[in-house]
Amino acid sequence: MCEEATTLLKTLPNKSVDLVLSDPPYNASNSNLKMWNYKLVNEKWDKTFDPIPFLDEAFRVIRDWGSVMVFCSYHLLWKYLMYPKKVQQIIHWNHVSCVPSLTKTYHPCVEYIVWYSTPRYTFNKPAGRNVINDVKKPYQYGEEKYHPTQKPIVLMERLLKVHSNEWDLVVDPFCWSGSTCVAAAKLNRKFIWGDIDPQYCGIATQRINELWQKINQNKDLEKKMVDGNDESQVTIAGE
Ligand SMILES: C[S@@+](CC[C@H](N)C(=O)[O-])C[C@H]1O[C@@H](n2cnc3c(N)ncnc32)[C@H](O)[C@@H]1O
Repeated sequence: MCEEATTLLKTLPNKSVDLVLSDPPYNASNSNLKMWNYKLVNEKWDKTFDPIPFLDEAFRVIRDWGSVMVFCSYHLLWKYLMYPKKVQQIIHWNHVSCVPSLTKTYHPCVEYIVWYSTPRYTFNKPAGRNVINDVKKPYQYGEEKYHPTQKPIVLMERLLKVHSNEWDLVVDPFCWSGSTCVAAAKLNRKFIWGDIDPQYCGIATQRINELWQKINQNKDLEKKMVDGNDESQVTIAGE
C-alpha cells in the first residue's frame, strides 16, 4: 500500500499482527557524514521522521506473543530507548562495508535493531550466538541495488525465522524495495507492506512477482519430474 506508516497501521485491527519488522528513516541525513563535499546520506525522506506515532500504532496492532523491531542508527536510538515499552535487546548489525568518514567524525559501521517484546514473545532460538553479524550489504549477494538503504533479503530472513513462525502475519510499513516482503514470502509468512513513496510499489511488486515466478517454475518442474514427461531434464549419456 502506498501509505504513510501510521495511517497504514491505523487500518489494522487491535492485536492482529505477529511481527512488525520495520526499517524507518534514520534521520541520518541531518548528520555531517561527508566524503569531500558530498553528503554520504542525503535523502528528503530521512530528515524529520518522528517514530512515536508509528510506535504507538505498532503496539496497538501487535499480538500478545509478538515483537516490534525497528532498524536505526545512533541518530534516533535515544528516542527508541526512551519509548515506554520493554526493550528486550538492542541487536547490533556490524556490516563490514563501511566507508571512512573524511570529516571530523567517526563513520559508524554499525546499525541497530531495537527489539521490543511482549510478555509471551515468539523466539525460535537460533543455533549460533549471533545470527546476523556475518550478513553483509545486499550487493554482496548479487541482489540488484534499488535503494540507498536497502536491506539484504538474507538479513530479513534470519530475523523472520527467529521472531515469527510459518503463516504468521508480518508488517513492514517502510518497505521500499520490499526486502522484508520477499523474505517473508520465501519463508511462508503472510505480509502487509507499505511505504510513503509511490515509486516503491513498482520495485517491491516486481521483486515479489519475480519470486512467485521462480516458485511457480520450480513447482512446474517438480510436477513434470513426478509425471515423468520433462524432456529437458533427461540427461543424455555422454553429454
Ligand atoms: C530505510 S528506508 C527502507 C528501505 C527498505 N528496508 C529496503 O530494503 O528497501 C525507509 C523508507 O521509509 C519511507 N518513509 C519515510 N517516511 C515514511 C512514513 N512516514 N511512512 C511510510 N514510509 C515512510 C521512505 O520512502 C523510505 O523508502
